[in-house]
Amino acid sequence: MEWLIGLLLACFGAFAAVIFFGAPYLPTLLPQIKAAFDLLELKPGQTILELGCGDGKVLIAAAQAGYQAVGIELNPLLVVAAWFRTRQYKGAIRVHWGNYWRMSWPEADGVFVFLLDSYMAKLDARMQGYKKPLASVTFRIPNRNVDAEKNGVFLYIYR
Ligand SMILES: C[S@@+](CC[C@H](N)C(=O)[O-])C[C@H]1O[C@@H](n2cnc3c(N)ncnc32)[C@H](O)[C@@H]1O
Repeated sequence: MEWLIGLLLACFGAFAAVIFFGAPYLPTLLPQIKAAFDLLELKPGQTILELGCGDGKVLIAAAQAGYQAVGIELNPLLVVAAWFRTRQYKGAIRVHWGNYWRMSWPEADGVFVFLLDSYMAKLDARMQGYKKPLASVTFRIPNRNVDAEKNGVFLYIYR
């Protein structure tokens, strides 16, 4: 019985600890995923980078739309879920375990995020060096004009 309580506490801890580094897990809805892809206007074969890829839902949608997809996820339980869920898309999807604030980002043609308001200024600073289009679900970059909007997803072009 103790092992079960320990396991449950470890699972709870993995999800709870993430709030010190970024947004907690909440899956993006399909209409928002589609809106983000429409806004980013990537061509088939181009790569989308997802910061905080959860269980791989967006990565799978990207692969099914013909893109290459790379995700970074901090929660080890979600990384395992993403690796498992995306296993049939080997060659199209890569999932990295890590804290996206503390690592260099893989090359991509567009970025997808579903963060929190409190992290958007930090994201802006990072995007100014990355210089790729950004699709952000729900949350806006402070003091920066939105280049386009669809279904609650905001597009920012970094040049
Ligand atoms: C709002 S959820 C979005 C999940 C995913 N985009 C989806 O739609 O299914 C945010 C995700 O980012 C992850 N996350 C938060 N901070 C992170 C960080 N600093 N580095 C990597 N992943 C992080 C969380 O564990 C969570 O899975």
